[in-house]
This record gives sequence, C-alpha cells and structure tokens, in this order.
Amino acid sequence: MKNKLAKTLALLGAGALVVGCATGSRMSSADLDKRTSEVVKSSFRDQGIVKVATALADDDTLTACDAADVTGKPLSAEATKAIEEANFKTIKWPANGKFLGDWKEGEKIAQSGRGMTYTDDAGTVNGGNCYNCHQIDKAEISFGTIGPSLYNFGKIRGVKDPSSPEAKAMVEYTWGKIWNSKAYNACSNMPRAGHKGILNEDQVRHIVALLLDPKSPVNQ
Ligand code: HEC
Repeated sequence: MKNKLAKTLALLGAGALVVGCATGSRMSSADLDKRTSEVVKSSFRDQGIVKVATALADDDTLTACDAADVTGKPLSAEATKAIEEANFKTIKWPANGKFLGDWKEGEKIAQSGRGMTYTDDAGTVNGGNCYNCHQIDKAEISFGTIGPSLYNFGKIRGVKDPSSPEAKAMVEYTWGKIWNSKAYNACSNMPRAGHKGILNEDQVRHIVALLLDPKSPVNQ
C-alpha cells in the first residue's frame, strides 16, 4: 500500500515536472515570478503565532537583494546607497536619549533565541538570537560564525566611556546597526531587530551596553 502510494506520488511528481518545463518555456519572467510566489506561499501554512503572510512578507530591500542573489548581478552603487538610506530612515533613536542599558540584561537577550516561532505563544519575550551568528562573550563557547566575532567590540574601537562625547559616533552606530542592520550594509544577512519588531528600545539599550560597556565581559 505504502509502495503504491510512493509510486503514485513519484509519477505525479514526474508529471508535474514535465508540465512545469513545458509551460515554463512559454512563461514570461513576470508570470514565472508570480507562479513561483504562489507555489512558495502554498507550501507553507499558518501555525501558532506564525502567519505565512507575515513570514513571507517582502519589502523593497529584500526584493532588490533577492534579485541580485538570483541573477548573480551585484547591486549598483546607487541602488545600494538608496537601500541603505531608506533603511537608515527607519531607525528609531532612543526616545529618552539614553542609548545604554544594563549589559547583564543584554547578555540574556543575546543568548535567547526565543520568540516568534510556532512553539512560542504571543506573550513570549523575544530574544536577539545574537550568539546564533556571533561570538560575543568569551565565556560562551557555543556560537555561530555567520557574523564577525563581537568579542572586545567596544575595546577594539577605543570606547573607554560610552557616555562621553568621543564615543557618540560608535554608540549611535551600534544602536543603528542593531535596529536596522541594512542601514549600513544593504543586503546584510543580519536581522533588522528593531525595525522588524524583534527587539524593543529597552532591549536594544541592554544590547548596546553589552557591546560597549567597559565593565561588560565583552570588553575584558
Ligand atoms: C543571522 C545571523 C545574524 C544574527 C542573528 C545577528 N547578526 Fe550581527 N551580523 C551578522 C553579519 C553577517 C554581520 C556582518 C555583515 C554586516 O555588517 O551586515 C553582522 C554584523 C554585526 C555588527 C557590526 C560589526 C562591526 O564590526 O561593525 C554588529 C554590531 C552586530 N552584527 C551585532 C549583532 C547583535 C547584537 C545581534 C543580536 C541582537 C546580532 N548581530 C544578530 C549576522 C547576524
């Protein structure tokens, strides 16, 4: 029974492939994009708090970067600049003018990958998932390497007192990078934590402290 089902499925698959190729040759690029998007959308379903419409939502930045990936043609300098400027405009600077929180809280947020998955409920506090891509505190030996190491992030950049005027540019960059990574690197693989509502202002403050506070283990 199982075997028969497998065979039928395999046949159906082969059939779909032939039809796909036959129609593909006559399809315009726009039609093909539309069809691809329909197939992708119909391959997922809403589950728990995760909704297909939100999970697959595109914006101009992602569309341009995806197109560059697919065609292998890098974005022009003008397009790159336009994307970065548009993303920069979305950065919400701290309403109370305070960029720095508590690095201990920041470490907890950087460690947490919780929130926004189908096994989380709506009340789950989101984490920053930073260790998934970065080395941060030397004490944590389990980390991903998609992003550069952030160990000694503030120290290497000469931040001795993050509340001093000399440190202003670095503090603002750190805040902005976490809020919207694509403001500084158009097609960055780093999630836009503030812009996408993953982290709130208070959480970004704690993360900035984790990276820049001289007392944080990151800068030891
Ligand atoms: C999916 C992987 C990924 C995640 C998750 C991620 N990052 Fe990144 N991050 C990157 C990549 C890749 C780069 C390098 C490219 C770039 O600058 O956009 C980067 C760059 C950075 C930079 C700039 C480094 C420099 O030398 O200027 C900072 C700061 C940073 N990340 C902080 C964080 C923090 C804090 C978090 C958690 C809130 C985080 N990242 C989460 C992938 C990630």
